[in-house]
Amino acid sequence: MTKQSSNTVWHHATVSRIRREQQNGHKSVIIWFTGLSGAGKSTLAHAVEERLYQLGCRTFVLDGDNVRHGLCGDLGFTDEDRQENIRRIAELAKLMLEAGTISLTAFISPFRAERNLARKLVPHGDFIEVYCSCDLSICEQRDVKGLYKKARRGEIKHFTGISSPYEVPENPELSIDTGSHSLDECVDQVLALLVERGIINNAE
Ligand code: ADX
Repeated sequence: MTKQSSNTVWHHATVSRIRREQQNGHKSVIIWFTGLSGAGKSTLAHAVEERLYQLGCRTFVLDGDNVRHGLCGDLGFTDEDRQENIRRIAELAKLMLEAGTISLTAFISPFRAERNLARKLVPHGDFIEVYCSCDLSICEQRDVKGLYKKARRGEIKHFTGISSPYEVPENPELSIDTGSHSLDECVDQVLALLVERGIINNAE
């Protein structure tokens, strides 16, 4: 955590979040996907983004593997580094909320405390936690990146689900069974919730 200067003053923009939302024709929100590696967070986030894009929405996906090449490129996978990873993403997502965007974050974010911290950074209702629920055995079977095999051989330390814990969300806005539902069904569930919450007007 960096030191905060006492000589900085928040500058208020005349182009406010509300004006941006009016121009965009939808509300801004953070859709926070959480789940094991291989559960389908990124796939689902990008598929939801594609549908929203086609509806004319302003969107952006923040993805664990991508962000770890730049903004969080100095961080590893110890508990402390994962906490810092999530703190930075949460702050970034908060800025994107002000920018009028629907941001979709796809991070394992294994710890409840950090997810709750991210939630508390923004006004109530602006944070939608989506738990991508998928059995470890299925994620391990998929093993898209070959990382589970490496973790089982002891070649990757602190691997979530194998040698580092994942804390299942207790009260997510949405829990999706990404292990057995089709991608389209999962996308529909997220879109339906966005309509129900008044973030977008319709999903067609
Ligand atoms: S988080 O725990 O800090 O939220 P994040 O989502 O950014 O993790 O990164 C997870 C991705 O990094 C995984 O999908 C995987 O590709 C890769 N990775 C590399 N090492 C590990 C590890 N030890 N545990 C989990 N994922 C890892």
